[in-house]
Amino acid sequence: MSTQNIADLRKSYERAELDEEASREDPLEQFGLWLQQALDAQVPEPNAMTLATVGEGGRPSTRIVLIKGFDARGIVWYTNYESRKGRELALHAQAALQFHWVELERVVRIEGRVEKTSADESDAYFNSRPLDNRLGAWASPQSQVISSRAVLVANAAKAAARYALSPPRPPHWGGYRLVPDTWEFWQGRKSRLHDRLRYRLEGTSWVRERLAP
Ligand SMILES: Cc1cc2nc3c(=O)[nH]c(=O)nc-3n(C[C@H](O)[C@H](O)[C@H](O)COP(=O)(O)O)c2cc1C
Repeated sequence: MSTQNIADLRKSYERAELDEEASREDPLEQFGLWLQQALDAQVPEPNAMTLATVGEGGRPSTRIVLIKGFDARGIVWYTNYESRKGRELALHAQAALQFHWVELERVVRIEGRVEKTSADESDAYFNSRPLDNRLGAWASPQSQVISSRAVLVANAAKAAARYALSPPRPPHWGGYRLVPDTWEFWQGRKSRLHDRLRYRLEGTSWVRERLAP
């Protein structure tokens, strides 16, 4: 296969199925089950998710972040609050997340409003990170134009000299939590007749519906 024939590249999805009976009534439980199965299957980077935000003029942008926690309150990741995504979330506190577990032929999509995690929660996670990562949070003005890689190396050396073994959490660094109001679980099936179950919040209960693939 060469890039010339890219239009002919297709795959039949036949590993599993997802139906109304076998799926959980609570999407959080269904997510926990699938994430555990992705961990058990040792798929590459099972914790990587695409995060979509909306910027000025309704312009969307995406990037990958790592899930660092999930419970009934929502899905958590950590980043630089002054990054592009941080600035976009300050403008529109709504986002979408997507996991693609290729080997399992599964996708999960999650949508909802986004809030910052508390300072205590961000501190606890920050302090659990390896030293290099903590210094890195000080060294990188994420998403800003820099003149060369040397700037980062110099910033990291400065942070190391200043904070030694115990850098505090930078004020511009912390967590976000997406509070889901919609989930979709996609399982690839044969002949493009994939299974899609969407859960949407109505009042305080989840309505589960099948979507056409
Ligand atoms: C597998 C993977 C995991 C990543 N995890 C994070 C993360 O948890 N937080 C983060 O800020 N950036 C993470 N990044 C880098 C982002 O994808 C992105 O380059 C960065 O956050 C800047 O995005 P922005 O300019 O849109 O804000 C990750 C990249 C990859 C490939």
